[in-house]
Amino acid sequence: MDILLGIILILHFIGLASLLGGVLVQVKDAIAGKGRIVAAMIHGALTQLVTGVALVGLIQMGGGEINNTKIAVKLAIVLIITVLVFLFRKKNPVVSWAIWVIGALTIANIAIAVLWH
Ligand code: HEM
Repeated sequence: MDILLGIILILHFIGLASLLGGVLVQVKDAIAGKGRIVAAMIHGALTQLVTGVALVGLIQMGGGEINNTKIAVKLAIVLIITVLVFLFRKKNPVVSWAIWVIGALTIANIAIAVLWH
């Protein structure tokens, strides 16, 4: 179980890299009003959703403690990100605020994951 939990957590970090990396490569274009939603953001958001839920299940099966409020907030944030990436995926260019909000919400979820105990 430990090794499976570790593998899913690694996938959770890869999803984070894909989502935030997608935002970072769009910063210059978004400043110029020419940004767009890239596939890395969509795949990253979905990866975070799936691996996050899997982590909760695995931790609970292993008898570990889950902070339900923290997880509910992370889940709500990732759902907003997912709605935004799907809503704006065909827009080229996309309104720049969409890129800023996706980036800010992703960083908010990192802060919640690391700082909220
Ligand atoms: C943009 C979305 C997300 C980001 C950036 C993110 C980020 C992170 C990070 C950086 C960690 C490692 C924390 C540590 O080991 O100290 C983590 C762990 C974890 N995440 Fe996420 N996460 C996201 C979405 C989710 C979602 C949607 C769920 C559940 C529905 C979730 C559940 C968990 C769990 C259970 C852990 C391991 C236990 C913990 O440290 O709380 N995550 N996440």
